[in-house]
Amino acid sequence: MTDNIKKLETQYNKYIYPKPCEDIENEYIKKNRYQECDPNYHWHKLWPEKKYERKKLNILVAGCGSDQAAILAKCNPIHKFTGIDISTASLAHQKKLITKHKIENLDLICDDFRQIKIEQKFDYIISTGVIHHLDDPGSALNFFDKNLTDEGVLYLMVYGDQQTEGIKGLKNVFKKLQFEQNSSSIKSIKLIIEKLKKNHPAIVFSKYFKDIHEDTGIVDTFLHPKENFYSIKDLINLLAQNNLIIKNFVNGRISSLTKYFVDNEAIKKKIQNFSIEDQLEISQILNWNDRKIDIICTKKRNIKHSKVYNLLDIDSLYVCAFQSINYKINLQNLKVVDDKNESAFEFKFLNKKINWNEILLGKKNLKELTVNFSTIEKKNFYHKISFMIENYVLDYSFHEIEDYNKYYAK
Ligand SMILES: C[S@@+](CC[C@H](N)C(=O)[O-])C[C@H]1O[C@@H](n2cnc3c(N)ncnc32)[C@H](O)[C@@H]1O
Repeated sequence: MTDNIKKLETQYNKYIYPKPCEDIENEYIKKNRYQECDPNYHWHKLWPEKKYERKKLNILVAGCGSDQAAILAKCNPIHKFTGIDISTASLAHQKKLITKHKIENLDLICDDFRQIKIEQKFDYIISTGVIHHLDDPGSALNFFDKNLTDEGVLYLMVYGDQQTEGIKGLKNVFKKLQFEQNSSSIKSIKLIIEKLKKNHPAIVFSKYFKDIHEDTGIVDTFLHPKENFYSIKDLINLLAQNNLIIKNFVNGRISSLTKYFVDNEAIKKKIQNFSIEDQLEISQILNWNDRKIDIICTKKRNIKHSKVYNLLDIDSLYVCAFQSINYKINLQNLKVVDDKNESAFEFKFLNKKINWNEILLGKKNLKELTVNFSTIEKKNFYHKISFMIENYVLDYSFHEIEDYNKYYAK
């Protein structure tokens, strides 16, 4: 076992992170809550090119922590899950959840996932908050590529390097003070944080990530022995070295861009001539919301299915709502509340009523929805819809969106 893995094992045995769910039924199912990587609710994000199928998928949760694999397995009994983690304490909690909820479709393995010999490749691999703690994150990506089926997808979450700037200085101070992963250092950190000015970058950061007020959150945020923070360019390079590309972003946190240039067509055109990597670098900086970069990746051979590297054929799209966004409909117009920010989208140029409730369900494609539109109405409508898709205000698929609630936990 490497020194890196030994330290991770020690930390995640002593400070399980994140704080685990105690009851999946009460905390998830009854509240109709689900994980962002849920294969049922996010089918159209994982495989927009494929019609929804009720077939059994082989799914790996690499670095599954204390509850993630159990929650996913309970909410998706049709699929087969394997959860791997180096922390026996985290897995012990998942075992409790397995017994409590009589989960039958989850195998747990305690090991470094890179050491496991896999017999059957995975259709879907999930690894959130894990590889940025490794000495060699590329070795994890290489393992994912080798163990994914040809059309398989990887849901990856790593830390970005912009928002975390706000805590880097403090981390260095705590290192200099030789703070360790123990209760007296945690107490000292809490006392120091309490005294920081309201506009200190770490306080701004804590408004987004409330768990820095809890012991495990403090350890994970300020006392972690190993963390890599990514610029999107470096991440794309690392993926490319391991035969992987980004298929889609899970949300617009780092990738929505054109919204910043909506009133300046000349700048927008200039930016659209930049490489994809340069555009994403700019959007990561402007959005400043990259503590968590959530991406869906696939093998390079599937590049034709990537939203990042292809223009979408608007006619054939089924647009739909993002589950995390609140849409307020007012006649033709739409107000969108995302992360407490509100934006208004006006469709006054249309001389007819539009049924947003129907559109957001994703049951008809845009060609069908605009069949009665005049040429100019259709052009303006498509322009606005493209803008909303580019900026992750509307989601899409190339197939009718399934009524996912029908299959939740069934
Ligand atoms: C920050 S936690 C995230 C847990 C979970 N993925 C989630 O999002 O809730 C990171 C977890 O990855 C595990 N881990 C880190 N490196 C690992 C490795 N190489 N193999 C297996 N587990 C690993 C740690 O033990 C820890 O439980």
